[in-house]
Amino acid sequence: MHQQLNIGLFGFGVVGEGLYKVLQQTPSLKAEIKKVCIKNPGKKRNAPESLFTTNKDELLNDPTINVIVEVIDDADAAFEIVSTALRNGKQVVSASKKMIAEHLPALLELQNTTGQSLLYEAAACASIPVIRNLEEYYDNDLLHSIKAIVNGSTNFILTKIFEEGLDFKQALLLAQQAGFAESNPKLDVEGYDAVNKWTFLLTHAYGITSGPNEILFNGIQNIHATDATVASGKKQEIKLVAQAQKLLNGKVAAFVLPQFIKQEDHLAFVKNEYNGVVIESGFSDKQFFYGKGAGSFPTASAVLSDISALRYGYKYEYKKLYHHQPHSLSQDIFLRVYISFDDIALVPKEEFEWIEEWHANEDRKYLVGVIAFSKLKNSNWWKENNNSLILTPDPVIEETETRKLKKRSLELAGIG
Ligand code: HSE
Repeated sequence: MHQQLNIGLFGFGVVGEGLYKVLQQTPSLKAEIKKVCIKNPGKKRNAPESLFTTNKDELLNDPTINVIVEVIDDADAAFEIVSTALRNGKQVVSASKKMIAEHLPALLELQNTTGQSLLYEAAACASIPVIRNLEEYYDNDLLHSIKAIVNGSTNFILTKIFEEGLDFKQALLLAQQAGFAESNPKLDVEGYDAVNKWTFLLTHAYGITSGPNEILFNGIQNIHATDATVASGKKQEIKLVAQAQKLLNGKVAAFVLPQFIKQEDHLAFVKNEYNGVVIESGFSDKQFFYGKGAGSFPTASAVLSDISALRYGYKYEYKKLYHHQPHSLSQDIFLRVYISFDDIALVPKEEFEWIEEWHANEDRKYLVGVIAFSKLKNSNWWKENNNSLILTPDPVIEETETRKLKKRSLELAGIG
């Protein structure tokens, strides 16, 4: 028998209001919002005034509320709310990616000790059911790689700039007006939001529980118009791509960086605020998931699906973490990268294993070369001084392969 869900909702912004409307259109769910806790009582809201309070205890201590839905954008306050709710015996649905990424070990512990369910499908790729798929469907050891666009705002901005000719400021403003961007858009543009999402997707995919600062990442802030010209000359596009790949040593390489994508790649099809996930597994080869990754109703739809899942007691089992040997992250790879720059003196050429292309006569100079992952992870020169680093398609080179390639390139140069 499905239980009646009485919801205490935290937040009535783009997602919270979306959920309110979506719930009104799905009476069959037997879920009702009893109270909404907001920060700013002065704001005009499209819902009866009696629904709102600024006192969080009215929700957290109400014994008739059995589900807390938390869709606020203050990660510290969100953690406080979610922890208290779980401790108070309530089930929780959250969309706070930053909070989940930064507090995952504590949230795992809280789920274990309280036995309550915490679901957060809306926190990554909004409308695409990626977490439940990674958790349930790929409950085996065959996930070779995942390559994804997980941030709608940056994908929207890149589409608007490179396909519709808008400038960066106009494109960002449109993303903000549509409710896609974070209230601090730096989180989107500089890659923080994407790496936060990648952190817990790696937990569901591979049992990895490393924090966001252990993953190599950057956003789209350094990309130049000339980089896009190079891309289109090669029939490629530039996307902000989150990638994880299982290595021969059994570990996983993971990063979130701008990447050149071939036009025939599934991810090239992903435009505007859409997200896409390409999963490569042992027997099925490639599978492509596609859907809206930001915005009011697409995000609310994932929250709604989590609420619905609570009716039959669904919980994440974290199967890759608890029922399999969890994977760990590896830095033992090399990356084939493109870097455009103004001044070669600010690019440490000696850090590269070898350089394959060198274009010194263009207005904006660039090179393509192979560099150890650890050298990028432990430095910042490639994010600074107007340098723009973009991965080439299929950028991962494993160590054994590198030795062979390096030997061959030295032999060709007559020094091997
Ligand atoms: N700012 C986020 C994005 C919202 O653009 O993807 C959805 O998580």
